[in-house]
Formats: sequence, C-alpha cells, structure tokens
Amino acid sequence: MNQPRIPVIAIDGPTASGKGTVAQRVAQQLGWHYLDSGALYRLTALSALRSNIPLSDQERIAALAAALRCSFAGAVVRLSDADVTDAIRAEEVGNAASRIAALPAVRQALVGLQLGFRQAPGLVADGRDMGTVIFPDASLKIFLTASVDARAQRRYKQLIDKGFSASIIDLSRDLIERDARDMQRTTSPLKPAEGAFLLDTSDMSADQAVAQVLRWYAQILL
Ligand code: DC
Repeated sequence: MNQPRIPVIAIDGPTASGKGTVAQRVAQQLGWHYLDSGALYRLTALSALRSNIPLSDQERIAALAAALRCSFAGAVVRLSDADVTDAIRAEEVGNAASRIAALPAVRQALVGLQLGFRQAPGLVADGRDMGTVIFPDASLKIFLTASVDARAQRRYKQLIDKGFSASIIDLSRDLIERDARDMQRTTSPLKPAEGAFLLDTSDMSADQAVAQVLRWYAQILL
C-alpha cells in the first residue's frame, strides 16, 4: 500500500525575489520544516573558495558537496561547526554558487541531502528546481518572481543591513547575469514547474505574498 507522502510546498524563483522570506514565513505558519536549497549551493561554493578549488573543477567540487557537513538551527548556518550565516550571503559567494550550480555532478551530489529535509508534518522548499526536479510530487508549486528593480532594492537592503557595502547598479547587473546563468544552464534550469502558480511580488509585501501562498494551499486541500 502506498504511504501518504509528507506534503511539500515548492517555492522556486530567481535570486532576491523574496522567496526565502516568503518560504520561511509559510513554513512557520504551517509549523513545517524549511529547506533553503540555495544555502547548500552557497556552502559548497564557500568551501570551494576557501580551499582554492577552481570553480570549474566539477569532480573536486562535487566531492566537497557530497561531504558537506552543515547544520541549520533557526537562522544560524554552520559549516563544519563554524558559523557561516553571514559569510554565505556575500555576493562573491552567491555568484560562485550560481557557477558551481551549473555543474551536473555538483547538483547530483546535493540531491540526497535535500530529500532528507522532507520530514513530517511537511516541508516548504525554496530554490530553483524544487518543483521541477527535487520534489516533482509537491502538493503546491509556486514560481515567485519580482522585477529586477525590486529585487536589486531588496538585495541592497539585505546587504546593507548585514553590514556589507553594496551598489544598486552593480547588484542589478549581477542579478541579470545570475538569472541568465540559472535559466540557461542545461541541468535543472530555473523555470516554472508544470502546474506552478505564478506570483509576482514586485508590488507586494512579504505578508501579502505569504497570505496568497497559504490561500492557494488551503484551496488545494478542499
Ligand atoms: O537562492 P540563492 O540566491 O541563495 O541561490 C544561490 C545560487 O544557487 C543560485 O544562483 C543558483 C543556485 N541554486 C540552484 O541552482 N538550485 C537551487 N535549488 C538553489 C540555488
């Protein structure tokens, strides 16, 4: 007999679209677990940068990904016991994450780790391929977007709040480059999953976006 699967809400979308905030709040409201899959790519990228491994060295980076020792406790992210919560948010690490995320062996090495987050009572998973590749049987799939301007402003605020320096012009250029790389790669490109609900949050507050996701989830339960 088939076991009922643990429910998953998959929230995919481009960088700085606000999906992290929305996904975390949805998870909180439902009392579910939360997977920040981008953090796993960022952790792998940080390890590679710290070990001076060229970002094109698929084999060594996949080995790093397979051996990743990380933990998430609330907002705190640890890599081999060191607190890297802020370090993984640096732009340099985000850009490196986008590069190594294009390497199929690296993506493959992170699959098991991501599936392990699917625990009762449910999971809200945030990333690029949550609904298309990792959790294709998700109960609800959302593709969350926002304009480049809105995203650059949000990323700017995030970085300044964390004490990093930033320029809106550089951020916009980086976002456009990163979108192109994430959408054009051959393996698991960023694209809306079949049946995904599209949510453009350019003119929405995080609370409004959370409310919309919860409404959609309530609808599919009917
Ligand atoms: O969501 P983020 O900005 O933290 O993600 C960092 C990079 O990781 C992003 O540019 C692309 C990659 N990524 C991915 O390829 N697949 C995911 N599921 C999550 C992130």
